[in-house]
Amino acid sequence: MARALLSGLLLLGLLGLDEGKNEELNLYHHLFDNYDRDCRPVRRPEDTVTISLKVTLTNLISLNEKEETLTTNVWIGIDWHDYRLNFSKNDFAGAEVLRVPSELVWLPEIVLENNIDGQFGVAYECNVLVYEGGYVSWLPPAIYRSTCAVEVAYFPFDWQNCSLIFRSQSYTAEEVEFVFAVDDDGKPINNIDIDTEAFTENGEWAIDFCPGEIRRYEGGSADSPRETDIIYTLIIRRKPLFYVINIIVPCVLISGLVLLAYFLPAQAGGQKCTVSINVLLAQTVFLFLIAQKIPETSLSVPLLGRYLIFVMVVATLIVMNCVIVLNVSLRTPTTHAASPRLRHVFLELLPRLLGSSPPPEAPRAAPARRASSVGILLRAEELILKKPRSELVFEGQRHRHGAWTAPLCQSLGAAAPEIRSCVDAVNFVVESTRDQEATGEEVSDWVRMGKALDNICFCAALVLFSVGSSFIFLGGYFNQVPQLPYPPCIQP
Ligand SMILES: *[C@@H]1O[C@H](CO)[C@@H](O)[C@H](O)[C@H]1NC(C)=O
Ligand SMILES: *[C@@H]1O[C@H](CO)[C@@H](O)[C@H](O)[C@H]1NC(C)=O
Repeated sequence: MARALLSGLLLLGLLGLDEGKNEELNLYHHLFDNYDRDCRPVRRPEDTVTISLKVTLTNLISLNEKEETLTTNVWIGIDWHDYRLNFSKNDFAGAEVLRVPSELVWLPEIVLENNIDGQFGVAYECNVLVYEGGYVSWLPPAIYRSTCAVEVAYFPFDWQNCSLIFRSQSYTAEEVEFVFAVDDDGKPINNIDIDTEAFTENGEWAIDFCPGEIRRYEGGSADSPRETDIIYTLIIRRKPLFYVINIIVPCVLISGLVLLAYFLPAQAGGQKCTVSINVLLAQTVFLFLIAQKIPETSLSVPLLGRYLIFVMVVATLIVMNCVIVLNVSLRTPTTHAASPRLRHVFLELLPRLLGSSPPPEAPRAAPARRASSVGILLRAEELILKKPRSELVFEGQRHRHGAWTAPLCQSLGAAAPEIRSCVDAVNFVVESTRDQEATGEEVSDWVRMGKALDNICFCAALVLFSVGSSFIFLGGYFNQVPQLPYPPCIQP
């Protein structure tokens, strides 16, 4: 009797223990005691497992142009059905879902194919959710570094076409089949899902389109297996404000300065060249800056690089131009003779063409024109050497001042040799001053020719600079993302 009671109590205790036992643990044992995670969840070998995939982008971390890598933070939602994990919640006290570590169940081994870092799989192996009926759902996060061929031709007004290609590492198209996950309305989500609340916008890139496509490849020969993968294309557009503010505006301003070289007077000599060469140096610094940013590709030249090359060529032309203008401006009558045609072209035709009036003709006998006293002293010394020929000077005087002075001079000469030598000296000074004036006239003719040359070259350089700059930047402005037949990626 006592033994019967004891065993009854024991049984009750056991039952009580069983009552309090974890339902999830029961379910776990029910599902996994005879489970082999290495086998595909199909009843017959020819069956395929249907895997629905949904990629959610939470952050486009960066696009490294130099290394041509795109870094993204995504959540990969993978759902499939495993008949071996079928259970009914009625058998397990209403337990609807079981969370188990991912290494316990069969996984389709989805990897990023165009990954360029050791991490092909997910970043964190989170738990797998097993729902009633054997539906399995896994949502691991991943940070992928994928290859993206960067097209630099329009940098920094460019857009890029990057893709994320997912495929099953171990299974062919005969074994697994990809489909897009469906949203609440039953429509397949055939693009990268961006939850505007969870998404952190990238400061440099805007995402325009993000369509996805399931691709199937027929095997080439009978025994080569068919393949399948999912490709998501990210069409991203650069927001160029950073480069406009930091490179383009300073570069245009500095390059514009080179035109100022034309306004320096010829007397400033080498400073004309100094200005343009300094600008050339500054442009080299900008060229160096963008060379650090873009990939070392010879396939195309970035727009900014083309612009810098252009302004450097302009600056070099201006340096050459300055040297030529200086050469013209600083000529003297002793070394060069100005032909009448040259004078006509540069002193009359060009100023008239450019609409600038030639300087008013200086009156010949302007008393204001002063010759340097040093020059006169030199000529005076010369005079002393020439003294014996003073008679000739008096001869010349007669021709110049008409007949009435000559008798006066002669009578004066006869009167006193002191007066005669004095008149001699005065005559000589007048003559040399006139000589010097003529020289000065010719020197200033050369300077004016240089000025005319400067004016016409300034106009040419201004036109070249502005037309070239606008042409190059308009090319960038018109490089818009084409209108693709996809819905915009980020719904407003
Ligand atoms: C799960 O199993 C039950 C019976 O064991 C069956 O009726 C049901 O169709 C199965 N569910 C699925 C999704 O296979
Ligand atoms: C982007 O690249 C993919 C594959 O590399 C290509 O199929 C697609 O046409 C490209 N899209 C555009 C807009 O160029």
